[in-house]
Amino acid sequence: MIDLTKYLEDFPILQRTVRGGNRLVYLDSGATSQKPEVVIAAESNFYRKHNSAVHRGAHLLAEEASLAYESARENVAKFIGAEIVETIFTKSATESINALAYSFSNSEPGSKFHLKSGDEILVSEMEHHANLIPWQQLAKRTGAKLRWFEVTPEGRLDLSKISELINKKTKIVAITHQSNVLGSITPLSKITAAAKSVGAIVVLDACQSVPHFEVNVKKLDVDFIAFSGHKMLGPTGIGVLWGRQSLLEEMPPFLFGGSMIDSVTMEQSTWAELPRKFEAGVPNMAQAVGLSAAVDYINQIGISNIHEHENQLTKALLAGLAHMQGVKVIGPTDLTERGAVVSFTVDGIHPHDVGQVLDQYGIAVRTGHHCAWPLMRKLNVVGTTRASFHLYNSISDVEKLLEGIAQVQSYFKVNK
Ligand code: ALA
Repeated sequence: MIDLTKYLEDFPILQRTVRGGNRLVYLDSGATSQKPEVVIAAESNFYRKHNSAVHRGAHLLAEEASLAYESARENVAKFIGAEIVETIFTKSATESINALAYSFSNSEPGSKFHLKSGDEILVSEMEHHANLIPWQQLAKRTGAKLRWFEVTPEGRLDLSKISELINKKTKIVAITHQSNVLGSITPLSKITAAAKSVGAIVVLDACQSVPHFEVNVKKLDVDFIAFSGHKMLGPTGIGVLWGRQSLLEEMPPFLFGGSMIDSVTMEQSTWAELPRKFEAGVPNMAQAVGLSAAVDYINQIGISNIHEHENQLTKALLAGLAHMQGVKVIGPTDLTERGAVVSFTVDGIHPHDVGQVLDQYGIAVRTGHHCAWPLMRKLNVVGTTRASFHLYNSISDVEKLLEGIAQVQSYFKVNK
């Protein structure tokens, strides 16, 4: 049994009491994680001591800021098993995915990224809007067709039609690593093998995986991954786009301006080497430094310990919910290939009402459609209530939630 309770005190916000003196039970890390003091201090320290525009000034502060920013890149790259030049800082995972879709539609005929009528882009019904709408838009701009994997009633990807869905027309497969609603983890190797066999590019939305279990880009055999800093104990305003070097070299930039150029005349410009080619403008330096501190913090605890700890909590919650009358888990009900996100419905009570009553007990959950409308429609639910864990949660949080749900049922006089 892994015990991470001592780390709770590292998170200032979790020392708060809320709603009449209740201990804050934060179960919304799938939306955004809380930040340990070391992350807050790293970001603040950058502003206090080193703030300066990176890669520009000739002075000491610029040198220090550039070093801090590039060290952050190195640290983040190492965390995901990537090469430094392949690790691009963006402002969010959403921006990373949009950037790809935009860049692909700017590419010349003949390029690997060029799409046209007759080509296909494959997503799934369980995508977060951030990994769906950019591809819908790309399909609109290029005339390509958007197709998708369906979701099984158990809440897993339905791969039964994989050989039809991944075919010679498939140019891009954009898939989530772990559903932000169902918690199910994508069986990637089957998908990457099929995609490789037809030369399709695989884009992985790793927002819900990188913060919770080991993700090594070299082992995954995908072409691009996107994730954000704020879900992995880091600051908001910083995201990562990782891509294979050969692909990033071929891919056109998506933002133009300062820092990303090699030479500029009034008529034309050429691009800087990776990774700067994709980082126009003064980047989010303090946030990159904060993210690097989050990586150090996670490394110190060990991502596998975090994963194991979250598994224990997920198991306990699933077991508790299984015993509750009128409560249905939306997604896999055992730990096989699933992460620390548990969605559920309570018969006769709208998820927003569930969330509101839980909030009165200091329990913070997310309710609603979770930016996954097509999935809600498929599952025939208006929304769900979702509890999602990180390392600072404990078995006591699970107990509080289970008690809270019973209170909700009692309040609305269902199953009582
Ligand atoms: N993508 C975040 C979530 O699932 C916001 O809650």
